[in-house]
Amino acid sequence: MPMQKFLPEDFLWGAATSAHQVEGHQHNNWSVWEDSVAGKLVVGAEKRLKGEVLDWPAIKTEATNPKNYISGDAADHYNRFHEDFDILQKLGCNAYRFSVEWSRVEPEPDKYDEAALDHYADMVSELKKRRIEPLVTLHHFTDPVWLEGCGGWHGKETPERFGKFSEQVVRKLGKEVIYWSTINEPGSYLLERYLGGGAWPQWPIITMNPANGYRYLKNVVKAHKLAREAVKSVNPEAQVGINHALIDYQLGRRDPLSFALKKGLDYIPDTYLLKRLKDEMDYIGVNYYMRSAVKVGLSSPQTWAQKCVGSDPQNDMGWGIYPEGIYNVTQKVKKYGLPILITENGIPDAADTRRAQFIRDHIDALKRSRADGADIRGYFYWSLLDNYEWSEGFWPKFGLVAVSRENQKRTVRRSAEEYAKIISQHRSRPRQF
Ligand code: BGC
Repeated sequence: MPMQKFLPEDFLWGAATSAHQVEGHQHNNWSVWEDSVAGKLVVGAEKRLKGEVLDWPAIKTEATNPKNYISGDAADHYNRFHEDFDILQKLGCNAYRFSVEWSRVEPEPDKYDEAALDHYADMVSELKKRRIEPLVTLHHFTDPVWLEGCGGWHGKETPERFGKFSEQVVRKLGKEVIYWSTINEPGSYLLERYLGGGAWPQWPIITMNPANGYRYLKNVVKAHKLAREAVKSVNPEAQVGINHALIDYQLGRRDPLSFALKKGLDYIPDTYLLKRLKDEMDYIGVNYYMRSAVKVGLSSPQTWAQKCVGSDPQNDMGWGIYPEGIYNVTQKVKKYGLPILITENGIPDAADTRRAQFIRDHIDALKRSRADGADIRGYFYWSLLDNYEWSEGFWPKFGLVAVSRENQKRTVRRSAEEYAKIISQHRSRPRQF
């Protein structure tokens, strides 16, 4: 039976990456930190991962190799983006989300590198040649090394500094790019940097400092507004959003503490940021990966929000697979009355046995959510390429395209071909720009 077309003709079908995870050859706060921590991550790997991941023996060699934890040349996307864009085009994608690396554009405070800006302009024009719409993220977790000395993301100067950096990027790309995301997952950055860590085993600086966390959130609001103003001054029609990690938090136990924690976990992206910024966003970016059962217990706070619920099937990292959650989170944010882009949704699946079904099920759930009133306008699979999964390193394989760690060879996975089929079933004619 032909698949029904509940999605509009101009729906954005894409894939996503972030600079630090794919470009390679970085000098930023993460690359500096990786060198100091790789050894420690190797020593702790077995203890940390054995009971958590789906198949420890399958990942053991990679997860116990110190090179796994150093981004190094990553997927060398900085040099190989032409080849990667050809793949995107072959898959039938009409959109690509990538991020601009702040440390390349502004290697020293107030000194901008025109060659780095030219590089990103080149990426944009190569995408456009292939009729692929760019979605540019201005901040995806990494910072220039010097930012910490200027107070870091909780410091007074940072929103203005970020605003100025954004102006430079917009000066170069603003006329060509319609879709922008200012800041990737502020809720995750808050948790990792200011509230003791959580999703990843390590982060360059982890503190438990809610006061600085609050300063950070206020700065995110300011920084977003400044960056959006910069974009709009060049192209008033541009669509500017923030993308949020929306986990489908569910109560794991009916007691007041678990209830309060669930409220708190929902509060940051939803109540604090979305409420404050709803008039300053043209769309809501949703990154959805999992549901989580919230249950306050005697174990460490990190285990209070469980990443796999009941008998949900698991991905390679041990996270539960729960497509209904993407329905739930998009239904939750439809109250803001804004278009929604799924800016990330993906699965680490080295054997490539679950990815195609994962994509199909999540898109079906999105169609239902659209039919029930959520204005969903695009889907970006995470990720186009196998990449550096932060402090887990390279062993989790999220890519539609496998990337060899030996020689950078690209291999399009079978699931990518399935994604291409889904796209072609929905796109009867190429999008015109
Ligand atoms: C981040 C990505 C990351 C992905 C999978 C998202 O939270 O934006 O950078 O790779 O999750 O963990």
